[in-house]
Amino acid sequence: MRQIPGQPWLDDRQFHMIASLAHRESGIKLAREKKLMVQSRLRHRLRALKLGTFSDYADHVLSQDGAEERRFMISALTTNVSHFFREAQHFELMSERLIPVFRKRMDRNERIRIWSAGCSNGQEPYSIAMHLLRQEPALASADFRILGTDIDPHVIRQAKTGRYTSSQLAGLAQADLEQFTVASGDSQPHRHMTEVLKKIVLFKELNLISDWPMRFTFDAIFCRNVVIYFDQVTQTQLWPKFSSALAPSGLFFLGHSERILSPDSYGFRSVGPTAYSKCCEVSGAAR
Ligand SMILES: C[S@@+](CC[C@H](N)C(=O)[O-])C[C@H]1O[C@@H](n2cnc3c(N)ncnc32)[C@H](O)[C@@H]1O
Repeated sequence: MRQIPGQPWLDDRQFHMIASLAHRESGIKLAREKKLMVQSRLRHRLRALKLGTFSDYADHVLSQDGAEERRFMISALTTNVSHFFREAQHFELMSERLIPVFRKRMDRNERIRIWSAGCSNGQEPYSIAMHLLRQEPALASADFRILGTDIDPHVIRQAKTGRYTSSQLAGLAQADLEQFTVASGDSQPHRHMTEVLKKIVLFKELNLISDWPMRFTFDAIFCRNVVIYFDQVTQTQLWPKFSSALAPSGLFFLGHSERILSPDSYGFRSVGPTAYSKCCEVSGAAR
């Protein structure tokens, strides 16, 4: 790795300390090949704290006083790439299997809940809301909510605004742009999600490897392109928690390169590409 004169340099020992801390705090696994990425993403944290070396940074972030910085560090190290309507096949499956369930629920005035776990800047939960409202407009006045959670406070703040640039909105069909977004009104080329969507989609900060405060189950859980950053052990600890959090008729979605190895041991059955339904309760599958 080439050292740039005048720029703080991350050595192997400091990298190891930071990678271990990131793993402990967030489950994110940083292999050695990520050293350059870590160095470049954390340099602005050193500047913000007026620290000259990664050694000083590692000391600070690992100290008792480093709690706030640990959050900034995790925020800098997460990969937040997202798009509207990513992995379209999941939306089709949701229409096919869940819309009939939701119609029955609405007839009985029962609640309908969806969770986008690791939602980044909100494009995933807003896409789910648009898709379902397009298929079943009556959901807008039902007890229907989508919870978007992420460890990164920065993306949660952005998601709550519901404000997106034209390049972020590029994946939306014209009909969705017209029905579900409004111009910013501040001469910027941004658009906002409508109030109807913002009433349905709610955001909270949540670290998936800490305790989950939710005390009800979800009809669908999307945790796509999140566990790919975790090691096998962390993934295996999450499957029973997701299984417990999913309603009996619910669907669980992972990203295209993620898999549950032996899904049946966690009470899941594969129902499509990286999509799972619940097949049975597994003893010990607890939050
Ligand atoms: C690549 S984005 C995926 C966004 C969206 N699910 C999608 O597929 O478009 C991964 C997100 O996972 C979040 N993340 C990483 N570790 C997490 C953790 N321990 N708890 C909650 N969210 C986490 C990151 O902050 C990031 O926003």
